[in-house]
Amino acid sequence: MEKSWKRGGTGGYRTFEVDDSVIKFNQFLKEKKVKGKLLDIGCGNGKNTLYFSKNGFDVLGIDFTLSAIKISKDYAKKENSKAKFKVVDIVEDELKEDNYDIIIDCGCLHHLRKQYWNKYRRNILRSLKSGGYYYLHAFSDNNYKLGHNKQYRLRKGHYTNFLSEKEIKTAFGKYFKIIKTYEFLTPNKRFIVRAYYMKRD
Ligand SMILES: C[S@@+](CC[C@H](N)C(=O)[O-])C[C@H]1O[C@@H](n2cnc3c(N)ncnc32)[C@H](O)[C@@H]1O
Repeated sequence: MEKSWKRGGTGGYRTFEVDDSVIKFNQFLKEKKVKGKLLDIGCGNGKNTLYFSKNGFDVLGIDFTLSAIKISKDYAKKENSKAKFKVVDIVEDELKEDNYDIIIDCGCLHHLRKQYWNKYRRNILRSLKSGGYYYLHAFSDNNYKLGHNKQYRLRKGHYTNFLSEKEIKTAFGKYFKIIKTYEFLTPNKRFIVRAYYMKRD
């Protein structure tokens, strides 16, 4: 797997501010009156996990980077949050069957090489209840508009892929209804990200 993440460090986890895109997805869940168990894949410092916990969901944040889970646990303790965290590799480890009402991935899939996508998807399909929601946001292939001219690259030792809507539809469209998709700029305005709201058939 991508050992670079496992080396740890806190470089990518400085901000605890939750993105507007995540706030919007929470509003969507509220409007749909969706409640229950939520899994945050590749939770990083746990900011989104804590946010959904504050909003009434029963949450678990998973990440295969030990230091990320430590930071998340410390953050939860500091904030007196009920959010739970666990070291899990979404590709290598098996998630519990039929367990979650919502699964979110804010920036993990675009770091997985294509050869791991089948295992990733199988895990999500195994663990997300039928009728459950899957929220994904990932770097868009439209990043060339900001001068990023490569489809993928190694950044700070991490594999990073720019993903097209077509690729996501091909990978997930057979199993999920794509309810909504839109693009937004990261807060530092350096990358274009595409969000996908999906519902399991
Ligand atoms: C760009 S960070 C996103 C962190 C967080 N979701 C956020 O929005 O700030 C990607 C995270 O995915 C994690 N990750 C990458 N591959 C993973 C895998 N196979 N299993 C679990 N976590 C993984 C990394 O350790 C990292 O914390």
